[in-house]
Amino acid sequence: GRTAVVIPAAGRGVRLGPGAPKALRALNGTPMLIHAVRAMAASRAVALVVVVAPPDGAPEVKNLLDAHALPERTDYLVVPGGDTRQESVRLGLDVLPETIGTVLVHDAARPLVPVETVDAVIAAVLDGAPAVVPALPLADTVKEVEPREKGAPEPVLATPERARLRAVQTPQGFDRDTLVRAHETVAVGGEGATDDAGMVERLGAPVVVVPGHEEAFKVTRPIDLVLAEAVLARRRA
Ligand code: C5P
Repeated sequence: GRTAVVIPAAGRGVRLGPGAPKALRALNGTPMLIHAVRAMAASRAVALVVVVAPPDGAPEVKNLLDAHALPERTDYLVVPGGDTRQESVRLGLDVLPETIGTVLVHDAARPLVPVETVDAVIAAVLDGAPAVVPALPLADTVKEVEPREKGAPEPVLATPERARLRAVQTPQGFDRDTLVRAHETVAVGGEGATDDAGMVERLGAPVVVVPGHEEAFKVTRPIDLVLAEAVLARRRA
């Protein structure tokens, strides 16, 4: 089958500060979402990109895609999203044509992932892994705590061995049937699952990690915008 990418871009991005939905904020004058779509369409293996827009923002996002130059060998679809990331991804999966056998899920908030990482994830799925996650070792030591209200000291419960931890990125790649089954069977409360591979794990299916990339970092806080624009400037130099 062919490969499609679902890009959940329906989040408000409150941690980035006030303003437009995160995916529509500009990096060097171009919306983050357009950078993310281009990063996916840069892979020759990607036949279709499905953008999941804010629930009331699908026409605006459609206009945005039409207004920017995108590779013509790729098809583009825009669908309205949901209240949680998990719901938004499911709404994207719902519109995939039957010809699609491999699905990548990529956060609009990771606009600068290099095509080599995209291709490595696709290759690992085509090699037979039902779920593939790009990830990097951690620089920081990580502690598990007993969460308390903001600012209050939090008791430490455990310190996992850092060498065994990975910080996971996107695009995450899946055998289509495996991901659809995960979304049909795994109910997650509250904000929903923060990552699609986690839902596949709960299904009991194997998930593997491949090397991620520094430039696939998530634009979450204001300082990440500074870093992203510096990466773009370096690419143009
Ligand atoms: O909030 P977070 O940074 O984890 O969001 C990751 C991605 O999920 C973003 O691209 C965001 O737009 C998307 N998202 C979504 N629908 C929601 C919430 C988040 O598509 N309801």
